[in-house]
Amino acid sequence: MKIITIIGARPQFIKAAVVSKLLKNQDKIEEIIVHTGQHYDEKMSGLFFNELEMPVPAYNLGVGSASHGEQTARMIEEIEKILLKEKPGLVLLYGDTNSTLAGSIAAAKMRSKIVHVEAGLRSFNKTMPEEINRIITDRVSDILFCPTVTAVENLKKEGIKEGVYLVGDVMYDSILCFEKECNVMTETLKKIILEKENETKRFLLATIHREENTNSMEKLSSILGAMGQMNEKIILPLHPRTFKYIRNEKLSCKNNIKVIDPVSYKEMLYLVKNASIVLTDSGGIQKEAFIFGVPCITFREETEWIETVESGMNKLVGSSAKSILEVYNEYLVNRKNLVPNPGDYYGNGNSARKIIEILTNQCMN
Ligand code: UD1
Repeated sequence: MKIITIIGARPQFIKAAVVSKLLKNQDKIEEIIVHTGQHYDEKMSGLFFNELEMPVPAYNLGVGSASHGEQTARMIEEIEKILLKEKPGLVLLYGDTNSTLAGSIAAAKMRSKIVHVEAGLRSFNKTMPEEINRIITDRVSDILFCPTVTAVENLKKEGIKEGVYLVGDVMYDSILCFEKECNVMTETLKKIILEKENETKRFLLATIHREENTNSMEKLSSILGAMGQMNEKIILPLHPRTFKYIRNEKLSCKNNIKVIDPVSYKEMLYLVKNASIVLTDSGGIQKEAFIFGVPCITFREETEWIETVESGMNKLVGSSAKSILEVYNEYLVNRKNLVPNPGDYYGNGNSARKIIEILTNQCMN
């Protein structure tokens, strides 16, 4: 059976890598990777394919940046042509990006069978483009692989019960797979973490890229302002969108904030694992912090990964400087009380294997 995998943004390369690695060994399955080109900078894309040893995509649509409608439309047009040519048995989609949405619309119109990995996640905030992408993709999918019990429950409430499988989180698989390799402080990281002589290894890690924060001068300056008041080093690998916004609006960062280029996956895992506190608006990084037992402050009002909050290890603070600093000060006191138990929520690190088993059974029928 032919499977077309559609990916395009950084977190999707990570999720697809663990599944693709196993698909490669399946005699009965041929995987064809389509990269939409949503992320195109070497540090947002090419780097990950090399590091994760992903097969080179058979197609690169090179759609690049545009408004949501235009970007998605360009993808749909090109994906449709590929589906017509390749006639796949299944279309495999990951997560909640515009590439996921484009894949789901193109495949649904062609009546291809759709598989969604990371199904059922909801923030219940429809102003997030990702929430719209998730709802639509789940609605048209035939096989829905959920990472958590909460995700299965969310689908049930929307009336989606058939074809739903609780398999655990492929990102947890990936962390377990790379855990040993990410213990090494690369030369690049050494220069950033131990910048000055006799500097301690203590640092905070921050990421900001969500549209709700990066497209609001008020919110972004409030977050950066709060970070500037934390009297310690904060490493901030910056998403190109945030970089452009800061530059265009001439926003300034205090000296304790060390702005760097996006880093590789293994370097990011090292930074999350060794940070004293993680500050982020990313979904994946909230979870990585939880898995490594690092307290997290999330610049959002809600999260799809509710388990991280219920455990007390992740606090949602929005963009208010006061709330950010309150939680930061609280963490400084309570740091040692946090004990992670990721296996209780995200599976046993064998999600990709479960996905392959189910897909292989499908191709027998
Ligand atoms: C996308 C996903 C988001 C995911 C994130 C991971 C959607 C709606 N959002 O957000 O769910 O968490 O990826 O990073 O699909 N840009 C570059 N170089 C690149 C990529 C992007 O300069 O390689 C800039 C462009 O100016 C672009 C902007 O970043 O317009 C935003 O990129 P886009 O792909 O629209 O969404 P992300 O913010 O990356």
